[in-house]
Amino acid sequence: LASTEVNIAELEEGQEITVIYRERPHFVRRRTAAEVEAARDVNIAALPDRDARNFNLGDGAPATDENRSAMTAEIAEGVEIEDALRASLLVTSANCTHLGCVPTEGAGDYGAWFCPCHGSHYDTSGRIRRGPAPENLSVPVMTFTSASVLRLG
Ligand code: FES
Repeated sequence: LASTEVNIAELEEGQEITVIYRERPHFVRRRTAAEVEAARDVNIAALPDRDARNFNLGDGAPATDENRSAMTAEIAEGVEIEDALRASLLVTSANCTHLGCVPTEGAGDYGAWFCPCHGSHYDTSGRIRRGPAPENLSVPVMTFTSASVLRLG
């Protein structure tokens, strides 16, 4: 399948599911307000990887939380969706950018994802903060095809 549809209406705040997109696992997380705030309250210049790594944006987009979140997803014509919901949704690859292990949710120094294979810590925006992983978890192309469906790809 070239694309994957995710029913976001069923996701509660603080809930995360893993979906398969292009044969690889991806995290879909509806973040809490505190998680979004923590992600926004970061000095981009101090990040190990300052690139958003978001396929919805061009290369070189800065790794702000807005540039990582579903605020960057396209919205199909006629679909209305709240900014707060878009900002809370984060979709990323679930393969650590070091050697591809699947990080553990709700763990590590940033209370987000921790890769147990060699100790990479990702923050609530899926950005690498500490450890051997070289890049932020990548964000796939996304479109809100309705108020409750986010399509990956
Ligand atoms: Fe994640 Fe090595 S594969 S830290």
